[in-house]
Amino acid sequence: MYAITVDDRLQLKVLDPDKDVEESFAVLQKNMPYVEVFLPWMKDRTIEKDKKDMQDALDKFNNGLGSEMGIFEKEVAAEYENKNSWKFIGWCGIIRVKKENPQDAYAELSYWLDKDYWGQGIVTKCMQKLIEFAFTNLELNKLQLTTDNRNQKSLAVARRLNFKLTDIKVTKKLCPEEDLSKLEVHMLNKNDWLSQ
Ligand SMILES: CC(C)(COP(=O)(O)OP(=O)(O)OC[C@H]1O[C@@H](n2cnc3c(N)ncnc32)[C@H](O)[C@@H]1OP(=O)(O)O)[C@@H](O)C(=O)NCCC(=O)NCCS
Repeated sequence: MYAITVDDRLQLKVLDPDKDVEESFAVLQKNMPYVEVFLPWMKDRTIEKDKKDMQDALDKFNNGLGSEMGIFEKEVAAEYENKNSWKFIGWCGIIRVKKENPQDAYAELSYWLDKDYWGQGIVTKCMQKLIEFAFTNLELNKLQLTTDNRNQKSLAVARRLNFKLTDIKVTKKLCPEEDLSKLEVHMLNKNDWLSQ
């Protein structure tokens, strides 16, 4: 499967529906209390649905219409044994690709990380690689990152990646305890990314 090296410890890899689904499903279920707060549509997943979505994501990747990848950490013991053994620790994706108008070719970014790995800059580092992939391999011109305005950790990721706030949308009940949610829409243009 296609993989992007992030650094000595991390890689992004296109998920294999036959090999990766059990591990990724288990990590997602362990993290559901943190993930479902801001991604509530994730909570009713089953392993069968994950496998189907993984196959759809693989088809889209093979057709240049997106990139959904697992975030994998090299297992420490494997280094001593000199073999590559990678542990699934999160997910990131280039989704909802729209390329009808090539000048305006656009997609959204999304991500979640195993709570045990928060606070180390892992998602920021992985998204830098995914953004590079989006602008160089998928011929996109704009990337969007939409985040609930109470999701301080995700807003901080958007800021670190130099996304600009372009809109605030009010939507019905994304968070269970609130009637309305405010979603901040952040954008990054290819030209701004190139000039960084
Ligand atoms: C959003 C989410 C992925 C952010 O995780 P995160 O660990 O805070 O993000 P990063 O991996 O970029 O790490 C940033 C943190 O590492 C620290 N850090 C350490 N080294 C760093 C480095 N080299 N570069 C950047 N940050 C670094 C930062 O200071 C920051 O810590 P802080 O939160 O204490 O200020 C995580 O909270 C999550 O999975 N949430 C649930 C799902 C979700 O909300 N997804 C987004 C929906 S839009």
